Amino acid sequence: MSSTTGTMTATSAHPKTHAKPVSMVLHGLLAEFDDDHKLVAACKKVRDAGYTDWDAHSPFPVHGIDRAMGISMTKLPIFIFFCGALGTATGVIMQWWMNAVDYPFLISGKPFWSLPANIPVIFELTILFSALSAVIGMFAFNGLPRHYNPLFRSERFKRATDDRFFISVLASDPRFNLNSTRSLLESAGAAAVERVDDTSESEAPPRLFIWAHAILLCLALIPIAMIYRARNAPIDYPRLHVIFDMDNQEKYAGKQAANPAFVDGRAMRLPVAGTVARGMLRQDPALTDGRVGDRWLTVFPANVTIDDALLKRGQNRYEIFCAPCHGFDGSGNGRVTDVARERGLGWVEPKNLHDEDVRLRPVGHLYNTVKNGIRTMPPYGDQISGESDRWAVVAYIKALQRSQRAAPGDVPTEKKDELNNRK
Ligand code: HEC
Repeated sequence: MSSTTGTMTATSAHPKTHAKPVSMVLHGLLAEFDDDHKLVAACKKVRDAGYTDWDAHSPFPVHGIDRAMGISMTKLPIFIFFCGALGTATGVIMQWWMNAVDYPFLISGKPFWSLPANIPVIFELTILFSALSAVIGMFAFNGLPRHYNPLFRSERFKRATDDRFFISVLASDPRFNLNSTRSLLESAGAAAVERVDDTSESEAPPRLFIWAHAILLCLALIPIAMIYRARNAPIDYPRLHVIFDMDNQEKYAGKQAANPAFVDGRAMRLPVAGTVARGMLRQDPALTDGRVGDRWLTVFPANVTIDDALLKRGQNRYEIFCAPCHGFDGSGNGRVTDVARERGLGWVEPKNLHDEDVRLRPVGHLYNTVKNGIRTMPPYGDQISGESDRWAVVAYIKALQRSQRAAPGDVPTEKKDELNNRK
């Protein structure tokens, strides 16, 4: 608040605090009126005089006061409209992203994205955003919450909630002038006009208040820390389940469960005759089976691009699913093999993938081994479920094989010197 109209010095009104001088600045003028008709008439005058930074105070709502004060319509509805529109957009984008892009989940053959199914959530979010923006916007536009107003310093003003009517004109108004504003208010029918002053700076809160808040803040962190610990520390009993979500559901476990609800008594249903599940259409046996007719592919299918990313993916899958038996280098010395040897279990040793016969296998045959297993080796097609992942594993095996049979000519020229200089 800036004021050029006058400052003065007063001692604090609190008897208990030390009487140190507090500088006061002019806040504005307060005019008192006897009834609401006089208030409305006076408002019109102040409005017509061109004041902008002023307000009327009354114990009850007064009809026509808005127009008398020249208050234009609130911008709140426009704000709410845009927030509501934001809610609509959030509902649309969120559901489209979740259901159609990030986690497409097929339910009864319905499209991943269609408007009708998503309307309830879109509607809800529109209402939610509008309602919240209405409440929050109302507070913000009104400058609330406001615990203190310099007008409270006026004894007279206390009757604003009882039987008196007031107009306050703030010193921050460009037209404000102590004398002319006072005479305007008096001529508008004010029963009394008084100046209201306020401290120029807010007084610092007491020490105790600050300390109490600091301590409460620290205490408030304790429950959060306890929850964090309860959620993350290892324990040997089942966790307290407060929010169930869909963590434990009744279901027909296992593929062969019985369900009397169906005529054939099987829980698992057969696919509808003559249909293909989404994403399951197999039209390219070269890609999906590694063969054309009964001939194994000898080169990778055209739509598999061998690049760094594919080899890295292949390595990742290989080291999870194959290395336990075949070893990280493919020589057949995985951890499982080690343990089986230690314990003298009579089992078929995993093949050394660098053996001549495996090296000469067509890539289609290797693909088939990954997908369907071979002789005593179980199939890994369920674990490595996508075609591209299986081909990635095959590509990685080829890279492993190559790595064990490198010739001097394979060393890149810039590395050759390094190799020759080794002692
Ligand atoms: C549980 C241990 C085990 C795991 C895991 C395993 N294999 Fe094997 N693998 C074997 C055994 C045992 C053989 C030899 C089977 C036989 O001769 O009866 C074999 C043989 C092979 C062969 C040689 C087949 C041929 O042409 O004769 C290849 C290639 C192969 N595995 C690749 C893989 C790949 C790729 C993976 C990972 C997806 C994998 N294996 C995971 C145990 C395993």
